[in-house]
Amino acid sequence: MNIIFLGAPGSGKGTQAAMLAKKLEIMPISTGEILRKEVVLQSDVGKSAQSYMNSGKLVPDEVVISIIKKQLTGSDCHNGFILDGFPRNVDQAKELDKMLSLIGKRIDTVFYFEVSEEILVKRIAGRFFCKSCGAVYNNYFKLPKVKNICDECQSDNFESRADDNEVTVSNRLKIYREVTVPLIEYYKKNNLLLSVDAIKSAALVFEELAEVVCKSYKHN
Ligand code: AP5
Repeated sequence: MNIIFLGAPGSGKGTQAAMLAKKLEIMPISTGEILRKEVVLQSDVGKSAQSYMNSGKLVPDEVVISIIKKQLTGSDCHNGFILDGFPRNVDQAKELDKMLSLIGKRIDTVFYFEVSEEILVKRIAGRFFCKSCGAVYNNYFKLPKVKNICDECQSDNFESRADDNEVTVSNRLKIYREVTVPLIEYYKKNNLLLSVDAIKSAALVFEELAEVVCKSYKHN
C-alpha cells in the first residue's frame, strides 16, 4: 500500500506514520526527518537545507525530489510506503506522479489530517524528543511515563527541534496555507483524498486510520 499523509505542521503525521508503517510493515518516509539527519551530518544537502529549515521555509524542490527518488527506488519500499511531508506543493505532487509512473507504482490513498491552528501551535510548542532513539513526546499531550526518562530506551537525553519556535511556526503555517493547502484540491480531483479528524487523541486517530486501511486492503 502506498500512502501520503498530508497536513499542517504539528497535525500528527510523523506520529501516525511511525505507528501505521509498523503495523503494515511498510516504509515511512519523512523528508523532514531525512533533512534533519543531513543537517546533523553537515553534508552538502544538510548545509544547503539548514537555513531554509531554521527559518520555516521550504527547501528547494530539486533537493527534496532527489531525496524522494532515491527512497522510492530503494528495496525498502518494496511492500509500500507512507510519505510524510512530501509532496508539499503542486509541483512536487506532479513530479511524484511522474516518478511513480516510471517505476510502475501509484498512490492508493492520501490521508488529510484536519486540526485547528490553535491546537497545532500547542502541539509544536510542546514537542520534544529523545536524542538517543528519536521517540517524540509533548509537554501538553504526551509526557514520558517516568519523568525525564524515555519510555523506549530509558535515556534522559531530550531535545527540541530547532524550528519549533514561535517565529518559525507562524512562517511554517503561512507557507502551509499558501502552497500546501492547494494539494487538498489536487488529490480530491484525483479521487484519492480521505479526511482524518486529527484533533482526537493519537490512539483514536490511529484506530481510524488502521480501520480505513484494513477495509481497503480487503477490497483490493
Ligand atoms: P517536517 O519535519 O515535515 O515538519 P512539518 O511538516 O512542519 O511537520 P511536523 O513534523 O512539525 O508535524 P507532524 O505533523 O509530523 O506532527 P508530529 O506527529 O510530530 O519538515 C520540517 C522542515 O523540513 C520544513 O519546514 C521544510 O523546511 C523541510 N521540508 C520537509 N519536507 C519538505 C518538502 N517536501 N519540501 C520542502 N521542504 C521540506 O506531532 C507534533 C506533536 O504533537 C508531537 O509532540 C506529538 O507527540 C503530538 N501529537 C501528535 N499527534 C497528537 C494527537 N493526536 N493528540 C495530541 N498530541 C499529538
